[in-house]
Amino acid sequence: IDQALVVFTPSGKRGRFPVGTPLLKAAQSLGVDIDSVCGGRGLCGRCQVVVGTGEFAKHGITSRTNHVSDWNKIEERYKSKRGMQDDRRLSCQAVLVKDVVIDVPEASQVHKQVVRKRAEVRDIELDPAIRLHYVVVQEPDMHNPSGDLERLLAALEDQWGLTALEADLRILQNLQQSLRAGNWRITVAVHRGQVITAIWPGFHDRSYGLAVDIGSTTVAAHLCDLASGEVIASSGLMNPQIRFGEDLMSRVSYVMMNPGGDREMTDAVRRAINELADAVCEESGIDREEILNATFVGNPVMHHLLIGIDPTELGGAPFALAANSGITLWASQLDLRFHPNARVYVLPCIAGHVGADTAGVILSETPHLTEKMTLVVDVGTNAEIILGNRDRLLACSSPTGPAFEGAQISCGQRAAPGAIERVRIDPETLEPRFKVIGSELWSDEEGFVEETRKTGITGICGSGIIEVLAEMFLAGILAQDGTIDGTAASRSPRIQPDGRTFSYLVHDGTPEIRIVQNDVRAIQLGKAALYAGIRLLMDRLGVEQIEQIMLAGAFGSHIDTKYAMVLGMIPDCPLENVYSAGNAAGTGARIALLNQNARDDIEEVIRQVEKIETAVEPNFQAHFVEAMGLPHSSASFPNLSK
Ligand code: FES
Repeated sequence: IDQALVVFTPSGKRGRFPVGTPLLKAAQSLGVDIDSVCGGRGLCGRCQVVVGTGEFAKHGITSRTNHVSDWNKIEERYKSKRGMQDDRRLSCQAVLVKDVVIDVPEASQVHKQVVRKRAEVRDIELDPAIRLHYVVVQEPDMHNPSGDLERLLAALEDQWGLTALEADLRILQNLQQSLRAGNWRITVAVHRGQVITAIWPGFHDRSYGLAVDIGSTTVAAHLCDLASGEVIASSGLMNPQIRFGEDLMSRVSYVMMNPGGDREMTDAVRRAINELADAVCEESGIDREEILNATFVGNPVMHHLLIGIDPTELGGAPFALAANSGITLWASQLDLRFHPNARVYVLPCIAGHVGADTAGVILSETPHLTEKMTLVVDVGTNAEIILGNRDRLLACSSPTGPAFEGAQISCGQRAAPGAIERVRIDPETLEPRFKVIGSELWSDEEGFVEETRKTGITGICGSGIIEVLAEMFLAGILAQDGTIDGTAASRSPRIQPDGRTFSYLVHDGTPEIRIVQNDVRAIQLGKAALYAGIRLLMDRLGVEQIEQIMLAGAFGSHIDTKYAMVLGMIPDCPLENVYSAGNAAGTGARIALLNQNARDDIEEVIRQVEKIETAVEPNFQAHFVEAMGLPHSSASFPNLSK
């Protein structure tokens, strides 16, 4: 038999095969990564390749006789039904006739990279826990009796090389009907190569997953296409548990005071997740039953309440978690209305105060893979802090309080239209200019009044507070110990006596927006707690200099990193190496959704992480007091003066 040479790019793998060999077969025997759901039957279109050099006639194998034919009906049918670019072929249908160079486009690779936009983090390799396999199952034979399930398992082994699969009872209950409805052709969803979790009569190639980040304030969900790895819709809503308590500890107290309170909060958050699933599915026109897999991150209290575990133990020392490894469950066990057999994975928790959200942050920011001494901070009511590199990783949590979110600040508010988010103060005149959320203009620009008429100027959000305090400090209005300097009152009418202290008037309107001495103190306490936690980890590791800093969380993505350093929230570091990591916990959930091995990886990393309990560390208090100063009472910040 004549042989032809085939070279696959970009892998460069090559080999000679008999003329008439389908390209997909050649690729598989060379270990070239090409996707397939239909198993080479010309239905799924996942196996598309581009013909590079070499002539490539339209040839196919006629079904049954296995002869090379001139015209490939199956491929034509696919093309007319679903469309395909002219330079493409279905590799399962195109057969070798001459020497060729074949390019496997990214989209056709099983393990394609899902590109992440930030340079300092890695792309995600697509390898979801759920894979779909179309199979043709042998019909029953009276003379050779065997069960439908056994014949399905045999077909999966034969056509897909899948062995030792388990099937859930619910699969068995639907199997006979599905096989007959699909005329002995069915598609099965296999979870982690082990368990059949769903079946459909005939060919089915839609599979979706949901990555959910349960914050104490908001719950956010991202619907992902498991075939492409893309996020196709995202949605968020307020965590309905807020009505049981603003912060975590008040929710734990609610459980302690109200028997059954944990159940109420569990129901509330599960309802919210179902609502979010509805919202993202509606937006993208898919059915909720097409969600086959979901992943969850959240702090330990959110984690326990989602699963339905009473969080009381997390309310006091020794802050014991019910379980700290990752948990795989059926969605139905959590009352989540996805596909009836959908599976969910909850990321592992690290310690009583450092939860699955931090596991997500590590997965997203990968401090465990870099040589650089990396600090990752997720700032909320509690700050979760991770420090280290690929040799060693430490984690702790520090009670920063809600000031960074605009709470406990006299004119503070959540980030919403009308909130001041950027501030500059002229060091000569001490006059401020600012920007509010919802407007592009600065307050001294023409059109600002017009633009803000709708929203009003309502308060200052977390990032605005950081900026105004840092600018006050730089302009000399704030002393190093955080006192609003009354002697500056002679220089500007904006500095006004306020009892025994002074205040700084940012906006003279209704409402009046000013910074009072207690606001400065609240931020000082929060930032000192944050810095002291970081410093403890630095001591433990014996590190003096940090090479890169990732600021995670909603707050981290809005804050101007320079101002965070001016106030001494974070230690000295070259400013160009301080990054905003956005919602890193949510990204971690997405990574665990799209790459099954990431789940094993993060569990291993978490086992190795050294957990530090700040509350019992003797040095915490001393570090805390030192860190009250602006930017610090003793530490220097050489990178700031650059
Ligand atoms: Fe499904 Fe080729 S493998 S169309």
